[in-house]
Amino acid sequence: MGKSTGSQRIGVLTAGGDCPGINAAIRGVGKTAIVKYNMTVIGISDGFTGLINKEYTELSESDLSGILTIGGTILGTSREKPYKGADKGKPDVRKPLLIREHYEQMGLDCLVCIGGNGTMKTASLLAKEGLNVVGIPKTIDNDVWGTDKTFGFDSAVNIATEAIDRLHSTANSHKRIMIIELMGHNAGWITLYAGIAGGGDVILIPEIDYYEEKVAEYLTKRVQDNKAYSIVVVAEGIRVQGKEKSAAGYIARVISELTGLETRQTVLGYIQRGGTPSPMDRVLATRYGSAAADLIARREYGRMVAMKNYEITSVPLEDVAGKTRLVSADNPLIGKAKGIGTSFGT
Ligand code: F6P
Repeated sequence: MGKSTGSQRIGVLTAGGDCPGINAAIRGVGKTAIVKYNMTVIGISDGFTGLINKEYTELSESDLSGILTIGGTILGTSREKPYKGADKGKPDVRKPLLIREHYEQMGLDCLVCIGGNGTMKTASLLAKEGLNVVGIPKTIDNDVWGTDKTFGFDSAVNIATEAIDRLHSTANSHKRIMIIELMGHNAGWITLYAGIAGGGDVILIPEIDYYEEKVAEYLTKRVQDNKAYSIVVVAEGIRVQGKEKSAAGYIARVISELTGLETRQTVLGYIQRGGTPSPMDRVLATRYGSAAADLIARREYGRMVAMKNYEITSVPLEDVAGKTRLVSADNPLIGKAKGIGTSFGT
C-alpha cells in the first residue's frame, strides 16, 4: 500500500502503557519527517483506538516544539489490541478491517507505531496485511525483543534508584527490612539495574528462581554481622504463592515469618512511568524517531528501529512479534552483583 510517489504522508500513534520519552520520539520522527523530508505528519489519537475511530489531526513542525521534556504522550494511548482473539482462532475481523479502510481514507503512506511488545505484534500483523508500518520500541520494562534498549527504561531506573536511596535512611533508623517492589511485567530489568544502583542487599527477579529460606538465611546472617538493616528489591513479576496482592507484600510476610525481623513494604507503581524523561531517554527517543523517518524515506517498511551495541539499526517486525526479551541467567551484571555479596535468593 501507499499512494504517493513524492513526499509521503505518515501517521504516528502511541500504544500500550506510557513511559517517559514518548513525546521526544514523536518529536524526533515528526520533525525529521517534516524538516528533512518534507513529509506530512498525522497524529493519531489514543493508539489503535484512534485508527479504528478515525480520530486524528495533522501535526505541524511548531506543534512538535516544546514537547521534548514532557512526560506521557501528547497523542494519548490505549491498550486496544485490534487482533485480540487471533491467537485463540477467534479474531475480531471488524477492527483490522476498519484500520485498513481508515489508513486508505486518511491517505497514509506509512504508519509509525510507538509501543512495546503488544504494539509491535499488532504492527507486524498490519504489515502482513499490506500496510506500510515502522515500529519504535518504547517501554520502561526494556523487554522488547530485537533491541538492546527501549526508551523509558533509563528514566524508570533513575526514579526507582532514587526511591531505594531514600529507603536506606529510614531502614537504618528503625533497623528494619525494607522491601520495595518495582515494575517490569514479566521481566526483571528495572529491578536488576535499580537494585544494583540502589545497593539492594537482596534482588529478586522473575528470571531467577529464588528460595524463601535462602533469603531468610541471608538476612539473618546480616543481622548477626551487625548490619543494622537490609533492602530487598523485588520485581512485580516474581513467583508468589497464595492470594497476596503484591510481590512486596508476599515477600515481607514470608521474611517476617521466617526470620522474626521487622519488615515494611513499598510498591513504587506508576511513579516509575511518570514525569520528564532522563537525558539518556531523550537522546535515545530522538535517535529512534529520526531513524524511523530515515527508514520511511528509504521506503524500508515492516521494520522496527533498534539499538545493537550502541549503534542504531533496524530489525524486521515479524522477528520481534510475539517475543519478550528477558534477563538471561548469564547476564554479567548478575555475576558482578553476586561478587559483591548481593543475594538473588539462590
Ligand atoms: O509495560 C509497562 C508497565 O508499566 C508494566 O511494568 C506493568 O506491569 C504494566 O505496564 C501496567 O499496566 P497498566 O498500565 O495497564 O496498569
